[in-house]
Amino acid sequence: MAPAQLTLRRPDDWHVHLRDGAMLQAVAPATARQFGRAIVMPNLSPPITTAAEGAAYRQRILAALPDPPAGMAPFTPLITAYLTDTIDPAELARGFAEGVFTACKLYPAHATTNSAAGVSNIAAITPVLETLERIGMPLLIHGEVTDASVDIFDREAVFIEQHLLPLLQRHPGLKVVLEHITTADAVDVVRSGPANLAATITPHHLHINRNALFQGGLRPDFYCLPVAKRELHRLALCAAATSGNPKFFLGTDSAPHARSAKESACGCAGIYNAPHAMESYATVFERHGALDKLEAFASEFGPRFYGLPLNDGQITLVHEPQLIPMRLHANDAAGQGVNLVPFHAGETLPWRLA
Ligand code: NCD
Ligand code: ZN
Repeated sequence: MAPAQLTLRRPDDWHVHLRDGAMLQAVAPATARQFGRAIVMPNLSPPITTAAEGAAYRQRILAALPDPPAGMAPFTPLITAYLTDTIDPAELARGFAEGVFTACKLYPAHATTNSAAGVSNIAAITPVLETLERIGMPLLIHGEVTDASVDIFDREAVFIEQHLLPLLQRHPGLKVVLEHITTADAVDVVRSGPANLAATITPHHLHINRNALFQGGLRPDFYCLPVAKRELHRLALCAAATSGNPKFFLGTDSAPHARSAKESACGCAGIYNAPHAMESYATVFERHGALDKLEAFASEFGPRFYGLPLNDGQITLVHEPQLIPMRLHANDAAGQGVNLVPFHAGETLPWRLA
């Protein structure tokens, strides 16, 4: 029997896309309402590559948020730098020392949304990775090969073999987070890897397998990258997330795209799960009889890996059915509207954030 309510230390989201402009204003409050901090992805257009851009983006995020309720600490965005083939390691080190950058994000060029300026040859940025290793700045990796001849469902497993394992060998002291893992292969490599290797797990990869993309027709709202895999992989992710192993922690990869950009002949990759992220995770943990493991996954393992203090304050989830709306509509300060379809649209989740 699930408890009537569940109070947890305030959690953090270790992977989120908050975007910019009208979209930032529409989505940032949903993240700040649940999480104390979030690792914010730098794949804006143009991407965040300098400390000055990072500091300015942090200000825009803070300006998009309402004041927190009385007694609640303000939300802290943790900014990341976008690695390119030509990025200057000294700029990363300066941004890290100034407290602007918390981590670096490695997108293989053309792997996903706004990754065209990403890294085309990981070995060629060895001096950058040596700097990160020396200063203790975490490297966050989108772990997919981009070779069009590799089956899309195999791209994470091939990346692990071809790129991740050699990188860990070359940089044994580098703190690495394999982001939004989707396969049993990734679970195995993280579990058996060194202590400086961890992974984030999204709510959607715990809920859906690849069938969701084709349920009764083509379903763009379930399309994201890395794409959802077979059921056996989903089950491996659920086992990892609920295991109490500190190498696996919460990262939503909430990636909003306007409804018109999703429902298109070439729909964008990304699932917008921020509005009900904690309820979504709680639903999975309850199903696996592991509600007692949720707090560590959501609020402890991430900060410990990053070497940051745990949040003060708490959130409460109430065991009460909640119907998730089919659409969300938000207007920014200028009255510009954004239409979004949230993850779990039209479903009833058993939990509600108090
Ligand atoms: C992300 C986005 O839209 O920025 N999309 C996604 O499917 N997850 C990029 C990413 O994290 O791959
Ligand atoms: Zn992402």
